[in-house]
Amino acid sequence: MDARHFTALTKSLLDRIGQQAISALDVEDIIACLQFHETQYYVNDHPLIADIEYDTLFNTLKKIEEENPNLIQSHSPTQRVAMGLNKNFSTVNHLVPMLSLDNTYNETDLVDWDRRCKELSGATQITYCVEPKYDGASISLIYENDKLTRGATRGDGVAGDDITNNTKQIRSIPLQAAISSLKMQQAEIRGEVVITKARFAEYNESLVAEGLAPLANPSNAASGALRMKDPAEVAKRNLDAFLYHVSFINYQTGEPVLKTHYDTLEALNLLGFKTSAGGAKVFDNINDVVTYVHDFESKRDDLPFEIDGMVIKVNDFALQEAVGQTSHHPRWAVAFKFKARQATSKLLKIEYQVGRTGSITPVAKITPVAVGGVT
Ligand code: IVH
Repeated sequence: MDARHFTALTKSLLDRIGQQAISALDVEDIIACLQFHETQYYVNDHPLIADIEYDTLFNTLKKIEEENPNLIQSHSPTQRVAMGLNKNFSTVNHLVPMLSLDNTYNETDLVDWDRRCKELSGATQITYCVEPKYDGASISLIYENDKLTRGATRGDGVAGDDITNNTKQIRSIPLQAAISSLKMQQAEIRGEVVITKARFAEYNESLVAEGLAPLANPSNAASGALRMKDPAEVAKRNLDAFLYHVSFINYQTGEPVLKTHYDTLEALNLLGFKTSAGGAKVFDNINDVVTYVHDFESKRDDLPFEIDGMVIKVNDFALQEAVGQTSHHPRWAVAFKFKARQATSKLLKIEYQVGRTGSITPVAKITPVAVGGVT
C-alpha cells in the first residue's frame, strides 16, 4: 500500500468534506482511505492520521450510505459495526481440513524431526521458517474476489462454526484484501485469534468484579469471544488475529505465485494482515533453529501476547509436499513447546467475594511464588 498516495487522498477528501463538496461518487475513495488507515492503526501500529480525522471520514461515509442504501458494500468499514444478534451458528466445511501440529519438547526431538524431514524428502539440506506459536483460538478466513466472505472456527478440523459476523469485529482482519494482485481468485487463510495479556487481565478483573469466575487463560478468552451471540460484545473484547498459513488457493492462472512459507507471510502482511512474520526467521540448519527457539523462550514474557511455543516449518512448498502429512498433522511442520509455567505454593486461606448480583466467588490466598519472571 502506498502511504503517500493515501495520505494525499485523505487530505483532499478531508478538505472537500470541510467545504461540503463531497458526493456519493467519492464512496470508493473514502472506503480505500479508511481501510488504509485501519491497517496502519491495527496491523502496523503506526497511525498516520488523528482519530478525529478518521471519524470524520467514517461519519461522512455513513451519511452517504444512509442517503444511498444502494451504495452500501459488504467491505465498507461501516459494515463491521454489528447489527443484531447471531442466530445459531451454522456449521460449514473447511476447504481443506484444519490439521493440528505434532509437538516437540527438546533439542533431541527437533534434531530427530530434521532427520525425518530429510529422509522423507530426499533433501540433504532444508531451510526452515521459525515463528511464534500463538496461544489463542484458530480461525479460517475465506477471501473471494478480494473480499472477506467467510470466517469459521476450527471445530473438529473438518467443519467449524460460521462466525463471519464476529470475525468482522476484529479490526486487524481486513474486510477487503487484494489477493488478486497475487493472481488469486480465492484463498483460505488461517491464523490465531488472540487477546493481549493486558486486556485479558482487565477482562478477568471485570469478571471477578461481577462475581463471576475468571477465565483460566487467554486462549479461553479468545475462543469464548468468537462464539458470542452479540457481535457488539465481541468488539468490546478488542481481539487481534495473527495469520500464519494459506491452506487453499485458487490461482486465476493455475500457476502458483507463492513458493515459500516466509514469502507467503510477507505477502499477507503487504495485503494488510497481521502475520507471524514479525517473529519469523529463516534458517538453513536445525542447530540455528534450536538457538532461536531458546532465545525466543527467554523473551516470552516481554511479548504483549501469550505464546506457548514456536512453530518450525519447512520453508519451501515443493519440499513441504515431498515431506507430506498424516491425517492428523503435517509432517513438514512441528511445534516446539515451551516449558509449562507451573510452581507450587501454599494455600493460606479462602475469601468469599460477593458480586453485584449476590453470587459468591471463592478466592484463594496463596504464598507469593515466582513463575516465569512474574510473582
Ligand atoms: S501452523 C497446517 N502456525 O497451534 C498448519 N499453527 O497446536 C498448521 N498455532 O492448530 C498450523 N500458532 O491453531 C501454525 N504460527 C503458527 C501457530 C499455530 C498457533 C496453533 C494452531 C494449531 C495449533 C496446534
